[in-house]
Amino acid sequence: MCGIVAYVGSKDAAPILLEGLQRLEYRGYDSAGLAIVNKTLRTRKVKGRVADLAAAVPARFKGGVGIGHTRWATHGVPSDVNAHPHVDGAERVAVVHNGIIENADELRAKLTVDGATFTSETDSEVLAHLIARTVKDTDSLEEAVRTALKRVVGTYGIAVLDAERPGEVVVARNGSPIVLGIGEKEMFAASDVAALVRYTRQVVHLEDGELATIKADGFHTFTMDATETAKEPLTVDWDAGHYDTGGYEHYLLKEISEQPETVARTLRGRVDDRFHIAHLGGLNLTPHETRAFRRVKIIGCGSAYYSGQIGAQLVEELARIPADAEPASEFRYRNPVVEHDTLYVAISQSGETYDTLAAVQELKRKGGRVLGIVNTVGSAIARECDGGIYLHAGPEVSVASTKAFTSTAVAFALLALHFGRVHDLSPADGRRICEGLRRLPAQIEEILAKDDEIAGLARKYADHAGMMFIGRVRGYPVAREGAQKLKEISYVHAEAYPASELKHGPLALIGPDMPTVAIVPDDELLDKNLTTLGEIRARGGRVLMVGHRAADPRLADDCVVVPKNETELDPILLTIPLQLLAYHAAVALDRDVDKPRNLAKSVTVE
Ligand code: AGP
Repeated sequence: MCGIVAYVGSKDAAPILLEGLQRLEYRGYDSAGLAIVNKTLRTRKVKGRVADLAAAVPARFKGGVGIGHTRWATHGVPSDVNAHPHVDGAERVAVVHNGIIENADELRAKLTVDGATFTSETDSEVLAHLIARTVKDTDSLEEAVRTALKRVVGTYGIAVLDAERPGEVVVARNGSPIVLGIGEKEMFAASDVAALVRYTRQVVHLEDGELATIKADGFHTFTMDATETAKEPLTVDWDAGHYDTGGYEHYLLKEISEQPETVARTLRGRVDDRFHIAHLGGLNLTPHETRAFRRVKIIGCGSAYYSGQIGAQLVEELARIPADAEPASEFRYRNPVVEHDTLYVAISQSGETYDTLAAVQELKRKGGRVLGIVNTVGSAIARECDGGIYLHAGPEVSVASTKAFTSTAVAFALLALHFGRVHDLSPADGRRICEGLRRLPAQIEEILAKDDEIAGLARKYADHAGMMFIGRVRGYPVAREGAQKLKEISYVHAEAYPASELKHGPLALIGPDMPTVAIVPDDELLDKNLTTLGEIRARGGRVLMVGHRAADPRLADDCVVVPKNETELDPILLTIPLQLLAYHAAVALDRDVDKPRNLAKSVTVE
């Protein structure tokens, strides 16, 4: 998705903006641009990569205040002209914008009647014209921005420059994140802390409806009616090194390989061996309130939703509380019935996904109690929820989610243990789960050691036009996540089905050209799963089995054996070979592994 960076200080803005934009590349984009003030407004923007923009910026592009942007096209094709910043006709005001202006056509028509000439097809350009119209009357950029935004319907994170006020940048947020970075006699703003951590770890997140003016000597924040707001800076845990590839060929491989450590971090300080319970300080729920919930409803998008399905299974198994997961993107649109005795849990790695945020806001509006399972500290979803669990998995840069997925499943195991021990989970079962959780990091290491073996299998299967992924009950969300990983980074078509549903339709697809990845844990459903493999083999289908024991060659062509943990926790480990399978398939097919086509890391638009 689009990215914003802004700088005010005594250094040259352009290199800082370019470096910040590079840090935002992982989010996905198709064009980039920047504007600086040096007596006049100077802009450069190009379709393509930040490196193309850097090449287009002349050496004499000097000035200590500027804004930069990476664009992910929504209104108008990717092109130099549609790239941001957008400027008004008099070239006084420059704007970068993330989000969507819903009444852009109406505003554009009115501004055109007023004499404005538009050069791009974007919705964002109206902002530059609107602000420019007011700023010349008020001589206050803040006031001009507030006045303009009152006419706007939609979502935005914006940064605005005024050539006549070269010491400041005004930023505003409504549905699209803006975070301020506090430096030494310099200030930054960005849509993502990733752009700031090289310069500062002191940050301030804006709320929806909030604006800020940043100057070299500080900042102040205010609302749309000009009321000042008080903000406490947060310290970001991660430094710039956490955003590097760390010697790996791709961020994705780095993030898959980090999982022994990231799972350990999610668990750290949270497993109590005395009472066999989980310590989850951020839940903000008393034992009495915890007991009162009769249902758990989990929402998230994409892989976050699939990890929620694992979570629902864990809550039902360990706490015997009915639980289910639903895509947040559907939930928010179906006027959901919100029950006072249901606990809602929202999952998000980025904490910014617009559909999930909107679903949380809908729940809160209806009086629902919402916990967040979120990776990014201080993010919009984390702040919107009543309490929650931070994953502490560290920055996830690759578009395909891996370490956040496993950490979310681990967080759910902790939550389910907590609920279970408040209800009827015995101390013995509590101990069993605690011990199982502690074994996870070493077992993940064992799976990662099979990297070469899985890479060989990926090369063997990658050249098929499509693959089927199947699993039963606990294995089904694992299959869904496996199919998701394969399709998003290798572009190989992948379908996930409950193994039990195969003969109700998709079995028609099975044949030598459609191999099946079968998740076959050693659980009470093993025999059922083996029967399904027999049915696939009887139709000439090839099978790659992922399970706990070597496959009978009559039932599977290939097999990846993973270490066994407690049955309830096995889905976490079974996911990891599928991540490696997708990664190596994408490499074999020469895909852009970390930035797959058409996708963005955090989807901050509807
Ligand atoms: C995962 O591989 C995907 N890129 C995507 O499905 C992602 O999980 C989804 O967009 C939700 O993102 P979030 O966790 O940041 O909310």
